[in-house]
This record gives sequence, C-alpha cells and structure tokens, in this order.
Amino acid sequence: MELPLVRVLPSADLIEETPGEPRLMMVTIDDTDILLGRLAGGKVIAFASNCPHQQTHLEGATFFDGKVRCPLHVYLYDPETGENIVPARDAKAENLWKLKPGYLPVYPVEERDGWIWVGPEPKPPPRAYDPAKERPPVAGARPAATVTEAPAVADGPTDHPTKILKVAPGGTFALRLPTTPRPGFIWRVDPPGPLLAVVEERFEPGDPPHHLIRVTARGTGEATLRCFYARPWDTTPVETRTYQVRVEL
Ligand code: FES
Repeated sequence: MELPLVRVLPSADLIEETPGEPRLMMVTIDDTDILLGRLAGGKVIAFASNCPHQQTHLEGATFFDGKVRCPLHVYLYDPETGENIVPARDAKAENLWKLKPGYLPVYPVEERDGWIWVGPEPKPPPRAYDPAKERPPVAGARPAATVTEAPAVADGPTDHPTKILKVAPGGTFALRLPTTPRPGFIWRVDPPGPLLAVVEERFEPGDPPHHLIRVTARGTGEATLRCFYARPWDTTPVETRTYQVRVEL
C-alpha cells in the first residue's frame, strides 16, 4: 500500500534551475534526506541525496536535458524512473560491473495548494535496472585463456624469457607446453603457492604433442609459475618456462 504523501515545502521556495546552477532543496522525511528540484517548465522532482555510483552527495547536481546530472562523473539519471541514462545505455554489457551506474531512488511528488508533497518511500527500481549485470564476474566466469608454446629451437638447455599473464580472480588459464619423443622427459611445475592452483595436467596428442597444465587463480596479487622439462633424475632441465601471473580485475 502506498503511503500518503507528506507536505514538505512551500511551492514558492523551489525555483527553477538556471542552466548549470543547481537550485536543489533538501527535505527530510523519517530521517531520510530527499532532494527536490524544479525542472525547466516547472515540474517538481524528488530524488535520493546520494549518487548511486559512488555515494557522493548530490546537492551540487544539475539538470541536463531533463535528467539529473551528478557533478562528479556526470552520470545522468531519469528523474521519473531513476533509470541511469548515461553511461548505462551506451556501455557494453561486460563493462557495467565496472561502471556501476545503479539507479537513482526517486520519490512520488505532487504540487498542490501552494505546497510540495513527497512520498516517504521511493518508487520501485526502474525496469531497465538489473543488479546481476553490475556484479563482478564470478569465479571461473571469464573464458579461460590458453597459452600454446612453440617447441624450443636450441639443442642445449633453454631458459625462455619470462612471460606476463593476466587473469581475473577466480579465473582459469591453460599452458600447452610442447613435448618431444625423448624418453623420460616430462614437464613439472614448481608448486606455485597459495595464489595459484594447478587443477589439471594431461597429455595432449598432436604434432607436436603437448603437456597441458590448467591453473586457477585464487585471490588477487602476483605469483611466479615455473615449469621445467627434464628427466626425473636430471639436475638441469633442458627447458625452463617462467610465467609471471598477475591476478587482477
Ligand atoms: S559519483 Fe556520481 S557519477 Fe560518480
């Protein structure tokens, strides 16, 4: 049931904004601060006092094309529905969780008898708002990246240059390291520490065949992953491959 509107401000106290100059008034209903503004043409709007993007105060907000414009990152919100117009409408879906436009809670408002009346509860979220789209990718949701290495060209022991790999927290990547028909040689991975976990190792037939190592990242930070190609009794590997793995959003 919709709660009755509350009389909050004489109409005459809320004047139209002149372009670029905010003329917002703040009222408080049941301990909730609500900003009131008068759009060009006279319509009164009521909305939450903090920007949904980074919770900064909206007392310095202005109107642009009939929308509420936050002064900090100039996000635009529809004052009728609270829907974010900019950047949500132009942003790629996969970037929404970084942009976090949210929606601006807006309140029912009426003007009558020389007063402004505001509902104590915000309207329902806009239909376009989907909180799931603004959540960071979940563990493993990012497609696994695969690094396929070419066989070493040198005959002697080869220490390949370190490669930098980036992976999201919870993400998985795979290394495909070429193997040779030399008897007894196998790839071994140095235990990579708490940030990385080797979750799969298997032989992949082909020309050349590969040893596949699948690794999952846990938490954020940086770790070194070293892979050695040697016989179990060798002290010096014939190949060493090193990966500096950055686990970051
Ligand atoms: S804090 Fe309002 S747009 Fe960023």
